[in-house]
Parts: sequence; structure tokens; C-alpha cells
Amino acid sequence: MKKIKIANGIHMLTMNVEDILFEGIWEIANGVTLNSYIVQGEKTAIIDGVINWDGVPETLYANLEEIGVDPQNIDYLIVNHMEPDHSGWISSFRKIKDDFTVICTEKAAKMVASFYGEDKIRVVKEGDTLDLGKGKVLSFHPVPNVHWPDTMYTYERETKTLFSCDMFGTFGRMGDHCFDDELTSEETDFFESEGIRYYSNVMATFTPSLRKAIDKAKALEINIIAPGHGPVYRKNPQKIIDDYSRFSLYADGAGKNEVTILWGSMYGMTKKAVNFVEDILKREGIKYNKLEMPLESESEMVATVFKSAAIIIGAPTYEYNLFPPVAAALNELGRKKITGKTAFRFGSYGWSGGAEKELKEIIERNKMNWGFIESVEFEGAPKEEDLKKVEAGILELIEKMREKIVNRI
Ligand code: FEO
Repeated sequence: MKKIKIANGIHMLTMNVEDILFEGIWEIANGVTLNSYIVQGEKTAIIDGVINWDGVPETLYANLEEIGVDPQNIDYLIVNHMEPDHSGWISSFRKIKDDFTVICTEKAAKMVASFYGEDKIRVVKEGDTLDLGKGKVLSFHPVPNVHWPDTMYTYERETKTLFSCDMFGTFGRMGDHCFDDELTSEETDFFESEGIRYYSNVMATFTPSLRKAIDKAKALEINIIAPGHGPVYRKNPQKIIDDYSRFSLYADGAGKNEVTILWGSMYGMTKKAVNFVEDILKREGIKYNKLEMPLESESEMVATVFKSAAIIIGAPTYEYNLFPPVAAALNELGRKKITGKTAFRFGSYGWSGGAEKELKEIIERNKMNWGFIESVEFEGAPKEEDLKKVEAGILELIEKMREKIVNRI
């Protein structure tokens, strides 16, 4: 765990977490940080905590001591968001100290009680404040459904610091550089990419609520954004606000200037067409990603489709339906409400079709509103005339994706 002063009277304690499935689902190939913040006036508050793994709360206590904070002197636990990656340590803390107050929204209070049996809770509403003394005044600003209904921002008025918890967070482990102005250009790219993975995996379902949270942040005068995951933004907090605004467009069908091939093949017939498509994309100078299902991780699949301006689906018929690993991927994308993508599908069938029917059902049932170019289906291996149709589809897709491209500024 690292201890970093981020402003007068404010410290961050941060640790890298590796080798877990985030939320029990998402493979985090590049880790994630958990950030807690200590704000000291005459009273002391801790904003967000740590997960309740063996030894982690104890490590937090030891690190608090090292920055001169006796855990016994913490007066307030501010729970911006109840998910246990931030709140899991509460019961451990209750064992070593009895007289602290949890501060959270009404929705969080219900869960703090049901998850941890807490009852010393002060419920806060929009604009409520907590004066810690020595000029440190915190205000509270609910941002429901980011991504749980309980979530709020905490804002420190003197330093104009926004403690945003999950909002403006990213996956990705931090090395020595924890502030935006310390990051190398490679690290900036890394956290942008990990931000896309985080937004698409964890937050995308709630994009309309995230837009409201972006507006709420814009209404505050902000010098520092201090999220619960990822770097602290003190040089240019607008950068992560702009990134999140752009990610919200990706959820609605925009994307980077790249194409993703989401594909699977039983015995190589559909794969022949996938290879052919790759040659066309190379010839046309189009950047592309290739995701073979079911070999790709769910986290990578969702993130890669999410950020792409166009999707090529190569999938055969299997038992009168769409090839199951590709159908499962599309259902997951639908659950994440990744809508409005420009797409094209091709695939092989043997004795009967059926893939196309299920594809349409998935898109309609999940209200995905993807714009499809007419699909190409072929019996057995693709023949020359089939490949010509596939080529025409790809060229039409390339033309249509241009209006969807939103790259980083
Ligand atoms: Fe970082 Fe929704 O927990």
C-alpha cells in the first residue's frame, strides 16, 4: 500500500489488486487499484475504504499510523458507494473502534445495515455538509446508479477536490506514478485503455446515469479528481471528464477508428471467410481487432467491441441457431446496453440455417438497435461468389463506420 499526500490535510492510500475476477466476473489482466482517502481537520474522515481480504484492513491501519493517523482517531467513515471493494473493511474497523459515524446516502444506509449490521449512520442528501474544522468542509452530492443506486460524490471545498469513487475510475495497476502529471505518454495510453475496459465492463449499463454524474461534476469547481480506482487528476481533471463523456458515446454506437471481428468457427468453414476479411481490411488500411469466441475473455470482448466503430460477426449456424459462444457474447453486450453499433455478419451453415434468426432475436430482445448491413450466409465452405458478397459487405461497413468515429482529442 502506498501513502501519498494529494493536498494539505488530504492523503491517498492506494494498493494494487491482482489475480481476482472483479465483481466475481471480470478478468483484470492488468490489475486494479483500490484508493482510500483521509481528510484531516480537527476531526478526521476516511473516504472509501478497502476490500475485506486477509490482512488488507490491517495493512490499512498500519499505513494510517505511518502518516500520523491513529485509526482510533477516525471520526467519520464516508461511504461514497457500498460495493465491498470499498466498504468490505467496515466490520473489521468496528472491532477496533466503536465510536465512529458512517456517512452515506439513504440507499447506501440500508445496505450498510444489511451487509455489516451498522446502525451509527448519518444519511446525507444533495448539498449537505460536514465541517471537519481547520477549513476542511465536505459536501455530498448523490450520483445514483453510478453504478449502484447508493452512490454519491464527496467534495472538499478548500482544496476543490472531488472524491468520485467509481466514477472517473479505471482498471490498471499503478506503479510509481499516481498523478496525471507524472504519467508518461505510455502510461496515459494504458490508463485510457484500462478506463475503457472499466467503463465497458462495470459502468456501461448505466450510461444515462453516468451522463448525469458528468453534468454534476461539471457544475462543481474542481482542482483535483480523486477516484476510487486509478490515478488522481490534479493537472487536468477535465481530461478524465472528457474521456468519460467520450466513453458514453461508445456505449451508444460511436467508436474509435477501428473494427472488431467477433468470430467463431466449428470446423474452419466460417474461418476461411474470416481470413479473407482480414486480407480486405489490411488492403483497405483499416485497423482491426480479432476476437475468437469462446477463447477470448469476457472482459476483453466487451471492452474491444465497446470501443470499435464497427463490428464484423463471423459465426456459423449451430443446431438451428447462432454459434453459441458468439450468441453468448452478443447477449452480454446487450446486457451491458452497448447499442447502436454498425455491424455485418457472415457465416456457414450445413443442413439448415438458423443463425440469422437468433441474431435478430438477440438484437431485438436486448434493444441493441445495431445497424446491420445485409448478412451473407453460405452452405459449407464459402465459394467465390460468397466471398464477393462478403467483400461488398465489408466495403459498405467501412463506408458506414466513418460517421461513427470518435477518437481521443
Ligand atoms: Fe469500485 Fe462499484 O465498486
